[in-house]
Amino acid sequence: MDKILIEGGRPLQGKVRISGAKNAALPILAATLLCGGVHRLRNLPRLRDIRTTKTLLYHLGATFEEGEPLCIHTDDLDSFEAPYDLVKTMRASVLVLGPLVARFKEARVSLPGGCAIGARPINLHLTGLERLGVKIELRHGYVEATAPRLAGSRIHLDIPTVTGTENLMMAAVLAEGRTVIENAAREPEVVDLATCLTGMGANIDGAGSPVITVEGVRELRPMDHTIMPDRIETATYLVAAGITRGDVTLGPCSPEHVEAVMRKLEEAGMQFTLTDDSIRAVGGEVIHEVNVKTMPYPGFPTDMQAQIMAMMALAEGQSIITEGIFENRFMHVSELRRLGADIHIEGNTAIVRGRPKLQGAPVMATDLRASASLILAGLAADGVTEVSRVYHLDRGYEAIETKLSALGAKIERAKE
Ligand code: EPZ
Repeated sequence: MDKILIEGGRPLQGKVRISGAKNAALPILAATLLCGGVHRLRNLPRLRDIRTTKTLLYHLGATFEEGEPLCIHTDDLDSFEAPYDLVKTMRASVLVLGPLVARFKEARVSLPGGCAIGARPINLHLTGLERLGVKIELRHGYVEATAPRLAGSRIHLDIPTVTGTENLMMAAVLAEGRTVIENAAREPEVVDLATCLTGMGANIDGAGSPVITVEGVRELRPMDHTIMPDRIETATYLVAAGITRGDVTLGPCSPEHVEAVMRKLEEAGMQFTLTDDSIRAVGGEVIHEVNVKTMPYPGFPTDMQAQIMAMMALAEGQSIITEGIFENRFMHVSELRRLGADIHIEGNTAIVRGRPKLQGAPVMATDLRASASLILAGLAADGVTEVSRVYHLDRGYEAIETKLSALGAKIERAKE
């Protein structure tokens, strides 16, 4: 296992390239299962979760021609099963459920276990599929789905689940008739998937709004799609500029996708200069405290909660950070405390009393975004911070130490 060593206290300066969005790439890779032929995908990020998804597609019978674009051949799929040993490493594997049922009318997908940030059930995925005529049985830890006939229906989601919306949209595109998904997730990654599916010949309206309407079609054609920029990577580097009081220009990106984060960082004293596909982020001399509650898009993203907490550990005053999406997404708090942060937890709320300094120390990553927050804290801390178990980080941040070194950080990867 690798670890990352950072000597903090250096303001970040310069330009950083934003990679393709992990959480758009995962459902779009699954969508290649919807029809045979050669799919072309550009701007895929080089991440562990992408490799895991390609392994799953390979297991189902897909083959690949590496390059830019990546070419994915899905004519000869010969399995409809997503095995436990793959799903347990990446819960987003459940995204193959909708496409497999849509194209082959059957699927056998391992139930994802819980994960560090919460139980994360998939009940809404399954009840939504049942509304489309899918027969769901849970046997030996697997979802066994069969759909003699997939028929459009009205589905109301109790919670605007992101991958639930994506799974149901992918099942609906080949269902007979109209499907309406109410209380749908509005995340930009849902919109990127809808754009990709439309390019394949699907008939989708309302992606990005709470009501998505899908008119089923008889068949689709292979995709030719470029993955959108990663808004969470973008927002993470905005915080990196703020926490080090640096001056960083990042792109290509979509500033409108990180509106909620930029508003909060402006409150904290940062300044931004935008073009349509780049952001110049300048940290303020003083970090002002802010209050945050994570919400579904377009609210403040839960995937940025740990990162802004690291920055608020160095704020002038006290910040209140409430996690509104997951029930256990404070695993980073005990590690931040090791760096000297003063954080008190009450239920799903963290009270962060800003301190003038953090001290470098050995810390351990527990999940993807928690590890990002430890890297950010290490960039600002006095002395050396050593982050272990960085395989978590490699799931969602492409070449983070290379990108940060290019911005002037003193950072290196070493064998644990
Ligand atoms: C997606 O996860 C993202 N992953 C997560 O990013 C992100 O944190 C999350 O959305 C929220 O924005 C991908 O897109 C691959 P949800 P997802 O279903 O779809 C409950 C990262 O760091 N729920 O929107 O799994 C659930 O427990 C990852 O990149 C049900 O109760 O999240 C949670 O409390 C972490 N039943 C809430 O809804 C269901 O059937 C939102 O979950 C589904 C969800």
